[in-house]
Amino acid sequence: MRRAALSLALLAGPGMAEDFDQIGTLFAERCVICHSGEDAPLGLRLDTLDGVLAGSENGPVVVAGDAASPLLQRLRGEAQPQMPLDGPPFLDPDQIASVEAWVMAGMPAGTVASTPAPARLRPAPGEPVLWPDVEPIFLKSCIKCHSDNSKLGAPPEGLRLDSLANVLRGGDRLAVLPGNPEMSELWRRIVGHSSPRMPFDGPPWLPEDDIRLIRDWIAQGAPDADGTAAPIPVGARVRLRGVLTGEAEIDGAAFVIDGDTRVDDRPRLGDQAEMRGVVQADGSVRAERFRDR
Ligand code: HEC
Ligand code: HEC
Repeated sequence: MRRAALSLALLAGPGMAEDFDQIGTLFAERCVICHSGEDAPLGLRLDTLDGVLAGSENGPVVVAGDAASPLLQRLRGEAQPQMPLDGPPFLDPDQIASVEAWVMAGMPAGTVASTPAPARLRPAPGEPVLWPDVEPIFLKSCIKCHSDNSKLGAPPEGLRLDSLANVLRGGDRLAVLPGNPEMSELWRRIVGHSSPRMPFDGPPWLPEDDIRLIRDWIAQGAPDADGTAAPIPVGARVRLRGVLTGEAEIDGAAFVIDGDTRVDDRPRLGDQAEMRGVVQADGSVRAERFRDR
């Protein structure tokens, strides 16, 4: 049967429209990590034919026979940001041509059952959280700005959030201090301890459970897919701006003040304070500057 279907397709020659069996496989590889689930960007789910046809909160993304359909414009980079958002690499010309052919042919269905692939189970509180558990949050909510495909032109503060390596590298400053969410600017931004709160285009802010997941991931040492915790970024620069909650603590993030720390206008409990410091080998942060703001 399969062989017969294949030779029929070959007989029809080049230009023969694909059906959703092929297009759905392509979308599963390149689109579904973001375009699925309740938090799919703009409500656009590409994990089933029904989802593709339902379109986004802006309306249909594919219109039968229309080469200017929004989805095709995103693939060709005629509408920004170009898709897939985590490109480059974007789709190659052959792949774009097959999606075009499929839309021109009126989006034929194919034989694959229209049920979404099961989503990765979300770790419950207390369970280990690995990079693949938090990666979709960054991809769906952050990298439209924090990547080289940024709609702002360049990633703000040099911070790219499109891979584990880039999240750990940080931007102009450290974003994640493995093992210490309070000291991590990334966590501070998503809960609103630091402003502007992230995502920058919110509200909506991240759902409570996403914030909890990212917090647990950082607290557990920001492990990769295999569970190996990230190394301590010795020498990385940290800046905290917030409320003094202890003698040497801002919003619950403790640091070390010693004889070499330059202190101006020593802040008092409850004051707005700023600390600039450097990560030490044991994961603590030594303040170089500490002042009232
Ligand atoms: C890394 C995450 C990610 C991947 C992968 C991705 N997208 Fe998107 N997509 C987004 C985000 C985020 C938006 C919303 C961008 C914005 O707010 O401007 C979006 C928007 C879109 C839109 C615009 C919908 C509208 O209403 O204007 C289309 C169409 C689209 N994506 C198609 C695709 C296709 C097709 C693929 C795969 C080839 C893909 N996307 C892969 C994250 C992604
Ligand atoms: C619409 C664009 C946009 C989105 C989406 C966005 N950001 Fe940002 N982000 C910015 C801008 C702009 C700044 C710089 C703001 C400032 O400090 O003036 C920034 C700054 C940051 C900083 C501070 C970097 C530093 O060194 O000071 C962190 C951390 C951050 N973003 C994390 C995130 C996270 C995590 C997400 C997703 C949950 C996210 N951002 C989504 C635009 C965005």
